Amino acid sequence: MHPEISPFAFPAGLRGEGKDIDPRLREVMACLVKHLHASAKEINLTQGEWEYGIYFLTRTGQICSGERQEFLLLSDTLGLSMLVNAINNHRPPGATENTVFGPFHVAGAPVRQMGDIISLDDNGESCFYEGTVLDLDGNPVEGARIDVWSDNADGFYEVQQPDIQPKWNNHGIFVTGVVGRYNFIGIKPVSYPIPGDGPVGYMLGHLGRHAYRPAHMHYLVTAPGFQKLVTLIFVGDDAYLESDTVFGVKKTLVAPFERLVDGPTLWHSTFDFVLAPL
Ligand code: BEZ
Ligand code: FE
Repeated sequence: MHPEISPFAFPAGLRGEGKDIDPRLREVMACLVKHLHASAKEINLTQGEWEYGIYFLTRTGQICSGERQEFLLLSDTLGLSMLVNAINNHRPPGATENTVFGPFHVAGAPVRQMGDIISLDDNGESCFYEGTVLDLDGNPVEGARIDVWSDNADGFYEVQQPDIQPKWNNHGIFVTGVVGRYNFIGIKPVSYPIPGDGPVGYMLGHLGRHAYRPAHMHYLVTAPGFQKLVTLIFVGDDAYLESDTVFGVKKTLVAPFERLVDGPTLWHSTFDFVLAPL
């Protein structure tokens, strides 16, 4: 996703020649420095606090790895990810809203048949999911690719527990047919804390904030001619809906989960995705 950071890749201006400085880089850095200095002055930042800030950022970098992105968690829990998301996604009225992607998606999940079960660990409360992928005029979208993933009943994604959960547990891809319908069986997801054993968890604890995300299903919906949709469907009765630790809840993404009596699954949930054109 990001270009390799290498001194050889830096534009000439960054090597100190002072020429050809990217105007956007100049603008971004000038604004950042202005606000950084203003906040230090406003709060009378002490030497010790500055040192602690440097230590905190150092620890944040040190805990990052191929599987863990603590800076992303920091951005998420400071509300910056959702702000950038809002600035960059002006979806037309009627289109399904987008929200955070999260760090637990793994590309390459199996394409499954409609109606298949994505929950492979015999754990959790089963739920039948269904709906239609539509365009803004209400026409069904054929060939939409619905990549769906959720945590398991213990609140962990498969990628977090590769030695415990079956491969691709609670994850699958479904492709819509002519009528744009999808359906599959998963579990009713549960609320879970974001990883709390690093600097971000420490920060939340010191601020008296909990680390929980309300229960949700992740969706990545793509179709030729339409904008990519990265979204979440939240479980309507979740206790953390008003206090999501990454600020990702939008009212239009809260779905009804109906408890079935004598049904083939314990729960049923319907949600239609409305795609915006490119
Ligand atoms: C998630 O929903 O998977 C997620 C989003 C942001 C931070 C951590 C987890
Ligand atoms: Fe999630």
